Amino acid sequence: MLELIDVHAGYGRTEVIHGVSLTVPDDSVVAVMGHNGAGKTTLLRTAVGLIGAKSGRLEFNGEPITKLSPSRRVRRGIAYVPQGQQSFPQLTTAENLQVVADGRKRGKALIDESLDLFPALRELLPRKAGLLSGGQRQQLAIARALITEPTLLILDEPTEGIQPSVVAEIERTIIDLTRRGGLSVLLVEQHIGFALQAAQRYYILQSGRVTSSGAGGAGAESTVRSAMAI
Ligand SMILES: Nc1ncnc2c1ncn2[C@@H]1O[C@H](COP(=O)(O)OP(=O)(O)OP(=O)(O)O)[C@@H](O)[C@H]1O
Ligand SMILES: [Mg+2]
Repeated sequence: MLELIDVHAGYGRTEVIHGVSLTVPDDSVVAVMGHNGAGKTTLLRTAVGLIGAKSGRLEFNGEPITKLSPSRRVRRGIAYVPQGQQSFPQLTTAENLQVVADGRKRGKALIDESLDLFPALRELLPRKAGLLSGGQRQQLAIARALITEPTLLILDEPTEGIQPSVVAEIERTIIDLTRRGGLSVLLVEQHIGFALQAAQRYYILQSGRVTSSGAGGAGAESTVRSAMAI
């Protein structure tokens, strides 16, 4: 379980996150929604430790992680897939997976398990990641994150800028992943329909503050849309 308790964070002297508290229980999907610039990415960066909290606390599985480096948080079981389908463009798909698997006892098996989730990547293994489509790169980024055997997967707009047929595939995989148990997901997502379909709980972030939260599910869509005033 991840808990953020009254977290303040930002860049330099500028505070962007003004006292956010949220909980991601085990085996559940929590969606964070909000307009461009609301602070969603900043919140996720704070959760993974790329940005230090100015005040407030973070706990993972009941232990404080506020002062832990990103690599230590990864070792505790937190994986992060940043916005924008990032990968090593000069490395092949296979090498992008191998880089993460290197040094892990079950490295090869973990690559195989990831590829089972994204079978389309198998035929792309020899191709440079920089030549993949946005959707393929997103699948690669999630596959890579899963090789670290996370119990919490943090995804920043996994369907952004991706063609609809691939969006559906990525959405299905995310939902399947969480149904197998042992993994929770903190999901930032602009597609409200998908976010609520996947999530047991949602939070709406506006100007760095949680202005509304509630149970997920398709029934919450009209509430969320009016809370976001769209
Ligand atoms: N590296 C940075 N340095 C200074 N300010 C930043 C930096 N990154 C983001 N910001 C500012 O922080 C605020 C929140 O940005 P953030 O990227 O967290 O929003 P977001 O909700 O993820 O938006 P989007 O939906 O466009 O991805 C914005 O005002 C942005 O200009
Ligand atoms: Mg963002």
